[in-house]
Amino acid sequence: MKSLGVLTSGGDAPGMNAAIRAVVRTAHARKVKIFGIMRGFSGLLNDEVEEMSHRSVSNILGQGGTILKTSRCPEFMTPEGQKRGVEVLQRRGIEGLVTIGGDGTYRGAIALSRTWKVPCIGVPGTIDNDLNGTDHTIGSDTAMETALDAVDKVKDTVNSMERVFVVEVMGRNCGYIALKTALAGGAEQVVIPEMKTDVKELCGEITEGYIRGKASWIIIVAEGAIPAHELAQRITGETDLETRVVVLGHIQRGGRPSAEDRILGGRLGAAAVDLLLNGHSGKAAGVRCDKINIVDLEEAVQPYHMDAQEDLALIKILT
Ligand code: F6P
Repeated sequence: MKSLGVLTSGGDAPGMNAAIRAVVRTAHARKVKIFGIMRGFSGLLNDEVEEMSHRSVSNILGQGGTILKTSRCPEFMTPEGQKRGVEVLQRRGIEGLVTIGGDGTYRGAIALSRTWKVPCIGVPGTIDNDLNGTDHTIGSDTAMETALDAVDKVKDTVNSMERVFVVEVMGRNCGYIALKTALAGGAEQVVIPEMKTDVKELCGEITEGYIRGKASWIIIVAEGAIPAHELAQRITGETDLETRVVVLGHIQRGGRPSAEDRILGGRLGAAAVDLLLNGHSGKAAGVRCDKINIVDLEEAVQPYHMDAQEDLALIKILT
């Protein structure tokens, strides 16, 4: 291969820039041309493609977001859209693609590699940590730290005014950010999609706590479990206690990437280029026990089920 492309697609994640940098610099080190495709698959359809130099990725390691920009592109899920994208790649002489993103990005890469025979390697870039075949996705560590910082701040007011707070974090259908933040932040409860929560029981625990003299509660709720406002209303209905809601939202996607996310982005970006140059396609690069781990893209997007048991047990003991 003489020429590769790289794109970021779906929700941006801190550390994506480190992955782009590694892709570009590894390609150059292997004497291969590298093209940046802007705005994910949407930029591919519209031929928003630029050759990247060694210098074009200088000073981006510490920047959140993605210098290539990103989008969600339903059109690319259609055969017509994919055909247009493949024609752009052929016209540009791009022989293989590194696709950085989450579930939707991997599905685009599956179509390209299996149906259209364009060699593709996926790099897991999403704050949700919801892909199989990797212990961590790029961005999840930073998002967790951002959520934790917010919870630490909420805790000051919770303790001062003795209230019940429901803090909603992102994660799509995965409770990873919620669970880890609850554990690290010393939350009283966590509600995640992976575990059924009996709201009546939860309210009973809060009421018992009040009887014992415990007046401050933080409940971390994953967006995929139940909307925070709904949970707060039900708690007020059941307990008569005043509740407050904090929805952290997109601040979890921004900010300086943590050291872990920068290093992970670097390792996986470099691995993706080498996989393509060694003739692989339709694979996802990840890490297992700190070693590079490669799985089929189809396996990576299977429904992800986080093992929550140990962390949940610990939260119960520590509150
Ligand atoms: O996948 C990343 C993520 O931030 C999810 O946690 C969240 O559900 C979703 O993207 C939000 O998407 P958007 O930025 O399109 O609102």
